[in-house]
Amino acid sequence: MTDNFLELDKRHVWHPFTQAQTAPDPVVIDSAEGVLLRTKDGREIVDYISSWWVNVFGHANPKIANAISEQAHKLEQVIFAGFTHEPAVKLAQELCKLLPGDLNRVFFSDNGSTAVEVAMKIAYQHCRNTGQEQRTRFMTFDGAYHGDTVGAMSAGISSHMFDAWKDLLFSVDIMPYPHTWENDDAVESKEAAALEAIDLHLEKYGKEICAMILEPLVQGAGGMRMVRPEFIKTVVEKLQSRGILVIFDEVMTGFGRTGANFACEKIGVTPDLICISKGLTGGFLPLSVTVATDHLYESFLGETFDKAFCHGHSFTANPLGCAAALASIELLQSPETQHNFKRIEAAHDKGMEYIRALSQARHHRIMGTIGAFDAIVDDGGYTSSLGGELKKWFWDRNMLIRPLGNVLYLLPPYVISDEQIDEAWKAMALAMEELNS
Ligand SMILES: Cc1ncc(COP(=O)(O)O)c(C=O)c1O
Repeated sequence: MTDNFLELDKRHVWHPFTQAQTAPDPVVIDSAEGVLLRTKDGREIVDYISSWWVNVFGHANPKIANAISEQAHKLEQVIFAGFTHEPAVKLAQELCKLLPGDLNRVFFSDNGSTAVEVAMKIAYQHCRNTGQEQRTRFMTFDGAYHGDTVGAMSAGISSHMFDAWKDLLFSVDIMPYPHTWENDDAVESKEAAALEAIDLHLEKYGKEICAMILEPLVQGAGGMRMVRPEFIKTVVEKLQSRGILVIFDEVMTGFGRTGANFACEKIGVTPDLICISKGLTGGFLPLSVTVATDHLYESFLGETFDKAFCHGHSFTANPLGCAAALASIELLQSPETQHNFKRIEAAHDKGMEYIRALSQARHHRIMGTIGAFDAIVDDGGYTSSLGGELKKWFWDRNMLIRPLGNVLYLLPPYVISDEQIDEAWKAMALAMEELNS
C-alpha cells in the first residue's frame, strides 16, 4: 500500500522547495499527536521543528480540533466583503487586546506570504492616500525571508532563494544585519556599523522611503540569525521619527517563539503593521492576519472607492481558521504555555553545553524557544552539503530536525519535554562528531 501510494505521489504531486529528481522519497505520515509524527510504516518521529514552524501547541491539539469541529457544523465559510461573522470579530478583538499600542485593525488573509504582501500594499497605498507619493522605496535587512509572493520575494531577494525571478521583482534597499551569538565580542561594533549605514541611507533617501519590513529579533529561513532587542528598538525609533512605516513580519516569531507572545512586546515597540500566521491557528489551518494601527486604517477612509484597500481572497477570514485561532490564543495565554517558554529556554541552555564543548560548531545562540548554532564547514549557507546529510542522519534516529544548510536549530512545539530536548542536543553534538570532524 505504502509503495503504491508513493508511486502515485511521484506521478501526480509537486512538492514545495524540492528537487524531485534527486530528493529522497517523501515520508508518508499517517497521524500525529503532541510532538510525535507517526509514519505509515509504524515509526514514531519526534517533531523538533513544529513541522514548518506552525504546530506550536503540538499536533492534533484536542482543544483546537474541537473548536474547528464545532464551527464546521455551524458556519464553514462565507464571503467576507459585505458580511461578517462571530469567529472573525472575536478573533480580531482578542488579537488587538494582545498586541501593543493602537494596532487595532485586523486584515485577514491565508498564509505568511500574503500577510506580508498585504502589509506592503497597505503601506504603499497609505503613502498615496496621504499625499506622500514620493515615498516609493522599501528597506529590508540583508538575509531576510518574507515568503514567496512577488512583494515578499522582492523584500527577501538577499536570501538568494529567488534568483530565478530576480528580473521580475522590484528593487529594495538592503541594510546590514548585525546578527550575533553568545560571547560575541564584535556585537557592539557590528551594530554601530549597521546603524551608521542606516543613518546614511536615511539622510539620503529618508523622504522617499515608504516602509521598512523586518523579522524582529530572529531571521528564520535566513539561518535563525538573531539580533539584540535594543538594536531593533533603535532602528524602529529612527524610522518612525522620520515618518517611515515599520512592518514587523512576525510570521515565525509570533505566538511565543521568542519567549514573549510577540517579539514587538519583548523589544518594547509598536510597529505600524504586524504580520502573523504559522502559530496563529496552532498549525491546523492556513490563516494569517496583517494588523494595522488606527492611524493607518483611517487613511483609507473617504467618499470614493479608490482610497479603499482593494484586496481580498476567496477564503478571507475563514470561520474554521478563526475558530482555531481563538482556541490557539487561549492556549497561548494559559499559565502552562507561558511557563513552557521559560522551561524550554532553560532546557536549550542546558543542552547547548554539549555543543559549546565542540570545536566543529560556533555561533551558539538561544532566543526563547529557539536554539541554534552553525556547523563550521567550507561550504556554508542554505545549500551546504552537510545539511542534507544531517537531515538523513536525524531521520534515521526518528528525529525531525531539518538544518538550514549548515545551521542546526530546534524550534519545538511548546509541549515538548525537557528529556526530549536533551536528547536532541545530545544527538546534534554526536552528529557534529560523526559527520563534521
Ligand atoms: C518570517 C517569515 N515570513 C513569511 C513567511 C512565509 O509564510 P508562508 O510560508 O506561510 O507563506 C515565512 C515562512 O517561513 C517566514 O518565516
